[in-house]
Amino acid sequence: MSLRLGDIAPNFRAVTTIGEIDFYEYLGEGWGILFSHPADYTPVCTTELGMTAKLQSEFASRNTRVLAVSVDPVDKHFEWVKDINETQQCTVGFPIIADPDRTVADLYDMIHPNSSENFTVRSLFIIGPDKKVKLIITYPASTGRNFVEVLRVLDSLQLTAHYSVATPANWKQGEDVIVVPAVSTEDAVKKFPKGVNVVKPYLRYTPQPD
Ligand code: BEZ
Repeated sequence: MSLRLGDIAPNFRAVTTIGEIDFYEYLGEGWGILFSHPADYTPVCTTELGMTAKLQSEFASRNTRVLAVSVDPVDKHFEWVKDINETQQCTVGFPIIADPDRTVADLYDMIHPNSSENFTVRSLFIIGPDKKVKLIITYPASTGRNFVEVLRVLDSLQLTAHYSVATPANWKQGEDVIVVPAVSTEDAVKKFPKGVNVVKPYLRYTPQPD
């Protein structure tokens, strides 16, 4: 059965490019991003892992640990990482899980047989400190993901975990946010001292509260 938002992200042990890990121990008390790619030595995946490597400090500043996974063995990952570092001008510092027996792929339903019987699709999960699944996205092999968008969602998730707000379309860090419908305008004025702009009774903006 596939995972849904709010489900507990399953734990696992796996061989990775930084050694054997326990997923939960690796995440610790922080946030996590687990993302699959179809196979090593493929062009789009090379750019995706390179981009993730370049954004490593952005993920770290959000207390977020990143792990990639594919069904290739770890020796192949080690060799491929040299190519990623060379061609994408980066240093891959996050673990790449070797999943030849598909333990992780099956736990996270990353193989979609109508797409490919053998390879994982581009699945991405954001996992909160409570180990619950906060975001699931699935892209086809032919389309590389936008990791700046992943950071944007992470910002939204981390903000909305602490304040009674939601983020509007195309929101970016620092822009106004929306007061959630469950909070009355009277309470919103007390909760958000930076001010509440009531456009409609159901559409109320406030400056980013943190
Ligand atoms: C790629 O990562 O480049 C790729 C993988 C499978 C199919 C198409 C592209």
